Amino acid sequence: MDSETQTLRRLRKYEAEHVVYSSIGEEPRMDLLAPFGPLIGRTRIPDDTVRYLNSEADRILTPGKGAEFLIPEATCRTGQHSLMDCVAHGIELYVRACEGESVRHIDFDVFWIVSQYAGTPSPVHFHSGELSGVAYLKVPDVDPEQEQQSYISGRQAGHINFLIGGKQRFSRSLISFKPVVGDLYIFPGWLLHGAEPFQGTGERRSLAFNSRLP
Ligand SMILES: [Fe+2]
Repeated sequence: MDSETQTLRRLRKYEAEHVVYSSIGEEPRMDLLAPFGPLIGRTRIPDDTVRYLNSEADRILTPGKGAEFLIPEATCRTGQHSLMDCVAHGIELYVRACEGESVRHIDFDVFWIVSQYAGTPSPVHFHSGELSGVAYLKVPDVDPEQEQQSYISGRQAGHINFLIGGKQRFSRSLISFKPVVGDLYIFPGWLLHGAEPFQGTGERRSLAFNSRLP
């Protein structure tokens, strides 16, 4: 492959897909395209993996008391569908979709678990990893009344909110997802995200990871 072809291939990964976000109006209709910005991948972690991770976390956590701890590497590697294998599979799909190439190698920096109860926020932050993610191991019963409420700028209590670019007219800058047990989100580590505190009962238990792709 000559160097010009190589450069083209490298740049192609920045090119957006021609995907129609929505189609509106009468004929002639208007297609709305939303081509720019980071991609967020969502996939699933198998139930047996969620069960295993919860049983390991239960040995460390005290019920009713929020905490955060690193997941030992041995735990990440255990099981027929180990956490590391599940996340690696998600990353492979994500990178192939984003860049059209297979992942050669994944360096996992760290996996950790965050346990939270009512009233605890996760302030907006980014991660140190190049490619990061979050998955849900337990979700609380959020007050139905609060669930209807919208925080400032549409952020929902207890949901994960991704933000980019501030308020810009004619542009979307925020998306909010309700945590579901087993859902795994993969996103660039630089993408700002956070969660507003919820009111309700039960535990919100998530896991997160940081990785690098040399
Ligand atoms: Fe995070």
